[in-house]
Amino acid sequence: MRMGNMDRREFIHAGAAFSVASLSGVRTLPWWESPDLVLRGATVFDGSGAPGVEADVAVRGDRIEAVGPVLARGAVEVDLRGKALAPGFIDIHTHADLPLLANPRAENRVLQGITLEVGGQCGGSPGPWGKEEYQAIRERYLAVYGVEVDFRDLGGFFRALERNPPSLNAACMVGHGTIRRTVVGHDDRGATTQELARMRLLVREALLQGAVGLSSGLEYAPGSFASTGELVELARELEGRGYPYASHIRNEDDELLGAVEEALHVGRVAGVPVQISHLKAQGERNWWKGPAVLEVIDSAAEEGLEVHFDRYPYVAYSTGLANLFPASARAGGTDAFLARLEDPGARTTLEAYAREKVAQLGSWNSVQISSIGTQANAWLKGLRLGDAAAAAGEEPFGLVLRLLREEGGSVGMIGFGMSEENTALILSHPRGMIGSDGSVYAPSGPLSEGVPHPRSYGTFPRVLGHYVREEGLMPLETAIFKMTGLPARKLGLLDRGTLRPDAFADLVAFDPDTVADRATFDDPHQYPAGIELVVVNGVVTVREGALTGDLAGRPVRGVMG
Ligand code: ZN
Ligand code: CU
Repeated sequence: MRMGNMDRREFIHAGAAFSVASLSGVRTLPWWESPDLVLRGATVFDGSGAPGVEADVAVRGDRIEAVGPVLARGAVEVDLRGKALAPGFIDIHTHADLPLLANPRAENRVLQGITLEVGGQCGGSPGPWGKEEYQAIRERYLAVYGVEVDFRDLGGFFRALERNPPSLNAACMVGHGTIRRTVVGHDDRGATTQELARMRLLVREALLQGAVGLSSGLEYAPGSFASTGELVELARELEGRGYPYASHIRNEDDELLGAVEEALHVGRVAGVPVQISHLKAQGERNWWKGPAVLEVIDSAAEEGLEVHFDRYPYVAYSTGLANLFPASARAGGTDAFLARLEDPGARTTLEAYAREKVAQLGSWNSVQISSIGTQANAWLKGLRLGDAAAAAGEEPFGLVLRLLREEGGSVGMIGFGMSEENTALILSHPRGMIGSDGSVYAPSGPLSEGVPHPRSYGTFPRVLGHYVREEGLMPLETAIFKMTGLPARKLGLLDRGTLRPDAFADLVAFDPDTVADRATFDDPHQYPAGIELVVVNGVVTVREGALTGDLAGRPVRGVMG
């Protein structure tokens, strides 16, 4: 009786249980079941940081049904032998929120293996907008993308995603800058008691609507006009809910250490977790601060603060050209800023500040022009400021002024200001998560224009290909953890960012030997190599490296604690 078939089956199961023992969950699937999708024979990474193990994965509906030996045949079968299979990547810091409505296919995002965007970063979110700002955004989206924006807050944004699903999931924080603009306006002043109460109410409302944190952008107007006390007051709304206060801190170069201290202080006093956005030390004379800032963060963590940071795998950052000037110059909005640049009295100080900022980066050629609106200046896109000025027969600072004037203050720039050494340290640090700080682009139309930072196309494949395979910076399972399990934990998402039975079937399969980014600073609109299959909520969205056309993304709302 104990011989024959029984024995053999027991043997197979025992062997299987042994080989997949390091996965978070193992469930085998008998032959009489009929899953929708079976992925066969990949090296499966569960997102916890554990090494990969060969297993089959079965999917039914939008959930993972089994991980382990799957005897049943799926309606769809995919052979993934030799490939890595992981939870879909969570981009913990992106600006791919509202733009998902302009291009729901979001090719440059999902083709990287991203299945969840965490938008609303750097203090800016899709609402809550005041009437004027809403009108301006509504008109722009209608004119440029032919898309009707018919909501003014995050709740409306999530409903719009449900009506018009994108290719991948989207969660969102609420932006302090957006709230401050709505309540206080563009002025460089503290908030009154009433305004503070109103801002707190808007944070609370956003959390009720599903926001997964509060972000600030303290190098941008009007976020920069907030005191530390204001940030503490607003962050208190997160208390007990587990969501982070995520901050693009007040300064990322000469005042970096003080700026990090401020973010940690907000977390400590308000009693909430902290996420420092795109951690970096900008400018050669500040590179020594890379290890120093990590020490400060480590000691805060040792004292009990839950603190993490995110970073993209490039040595250049991306922002607006207006950021060469101090935030105080931008008080009162764009018109006031442009008027100050024309005012000879104010200009001397502003010019000195901008020249110092450029000198700190290296030279005028450390700044690349990434986006420009008018046809007349379009030829400057992709050029370095020094080269552009020479080609235009102008002085570089004069060119900056002219561009800001002619483009209504809106010119994109890329600044080559970080060291390789610090980039590697930050990416591989145990508290580091991978965040692209990127956005949605498109193969044609207005979202295809400009020479954007390549991070929007290449972040995740670049970490896996360049930093893991070529540089050996960290084990593959650690890199995957930083893209899946760690960010999911940070947001309290229990059934995403993990590959185990009953979790959402958000999955990515890639070839660890070939995965690579192909987007460069000169030619950024390039999809990566080696990302073979992406599944979003159980739906095959990328197959053999190409979009299937299915749009199965959903809003991922935070659960109020
Ligand atoms: Zn930022
Ligand atoms: Cu950002």
